[in-house]
Amino acid sequence: MKPIVLVGFMGVGKTTVGQLLAQRLDKTFVDGDHYFEEQLGQSVPSYLAEFGEEEFRKQESRLLPEMLKKFDVIATGGGIITLEKTRQYLKQTQSVVYLFDSFETNYARLVADTHVRPLVHHQRIEQVQDLFTYRQPLYDEVADKKIYVKGRSPDKVVEELIQLV
Ligand code: S3P
Repeated sequence: MKPIVLVGFMGVGKTTVGQLLAQRLDKTFVDGDHYFEEQLGQSVPSYLAEFGEEEFRKQESRLLPEMLKKFDVIATGGGIITLEKTRQYLKQTQSVVYLFDSFETNYARLVADTHVRPLVHHQRIEQVQDLFTYRQPLYDEVADKKIYVKGRSPDKVVEELIQLV
């Protein structure tokens, strides 16, 4: 089967939905941040603090094709669409599903999550919203399919995804 690559903003539910989808389809799953941490031997927050975002993007982009070769369902980090080169790569896979939600619902999920995200940590809501708005067209650009999460449960989203893939 062609891999399924989930993209979308931090906290939209890529990992939860991806895991569940892989389970339902009896396929393999990988979370982009976990894969990064395994390969680089360092946590994402610690890597970002030591080397900065530019180096982080280079490494996460380098690892993306490897993940597509090894796994069926891939939950990418929210910023995977940052580099133009990576967007080109994603587009040509024709495998990308964009999970999106309203900013309010996405933000509420993000702040309730204990997972540390250095790029939004200690940021004002307006700054997070700016990043959210800035990224929407970039996710759209790479997406073959798009699912509006509408605050629904991961189960419901997976049901819709299964119809699509
Ligand atoms: C990031 C999202 C994070 C992680 C890093 C940067 C981003 O992944 O890759 O903190 O720039 O959106 P999740 O989308 O899984 O939180």
